[in-house]
Amino acid sequence: MTDPLAKALARPTPDAPLISPSILSADFARLGEEIRAIDEAGADWIHIDVMDGHFVPNITIGPAVVKALRPHTAKPFDVHLMISPVDVYLEAFAAAGADIITVHPEAGPHIHRTVQAIKALGKRAGVVLNPGTPAKMLDYLIDDVDLVLVMSVNPGFGGQRFISSQLRKIEAIRKMIDKTGRPIHLEVDGGVDLTTAGACVAAGADVLVAGTASFRGGPAQYAANIAALKGTG
Ligand code: DX5
Ligand code: ZN
Repeated sequence: MTDPLAKALARPTPDAPLISPSILSADFARLGEEIRAIDEAGADWIHIDVMDGHFVPNITIGPAVVKALRPHTAKPFDVHLMISPVDVYLEAFAAAGADIITVHPEAGPHIHRTVQAIKALGKRAGVVLNPGTPAKMLDYLIDDVDLVLVMSVNPGFGGQRFISSQLRKIEAIRKMIDKTGRPIHLEVDGGVDLTTAGACVAAGADVLVAGTASFRGGPAQYAANIAALKGTG
């Protein structure tokens, strides 16, 4: 059976990273338009940060907004859930149009079960590691995930400074992924800009989340912003 998402999830050129702009930095009053603009500007995926004011100290958007945005682009929705509990909302985000659903091990008691639940919904499953969470957390999960997301800031807000100790973690996870021989994406999120993106790619990342660096300067700049980020690979 052919997988309609496979092409959109793969890297078109081996060295350039995929760019997943975080809509947290978009104009929330015009989100549909912003998504169309960032899609046309060359975004590979759309990163959607879901925050509950409990797992992280900020509140953003829920499944109703994801559903409303779905008709505005055919690009994969990369949904980063920063909510606890998380299991009870997986179905709602899947139904709303998420393609990749990424969860924090700290957001529930049974991360392995949560990963299986995402896959049972027919979605790609990602695990996110906070800056203080060791790569070792993945030892018994790596064979089941489609994506690993390394947080290079503490989750909750856009525009924070990149924590460079995470580069060592990216390197370690790249080795783990290569050992599996499976095409698992390695994504980095937080403080990714033209000064930090190259080091992330050199450490082994193949997907860069960028909020501030993608949406900086308004719609006329989006294509240049994304091209510049891709050029760091
Ligand atoms: C932080 C979010 C990030 C954030 C990235 O909790 O997960 O996706 O929006 O924003 P920048 O790229 O501005 O650091
Ligand atoms: Zn995020």
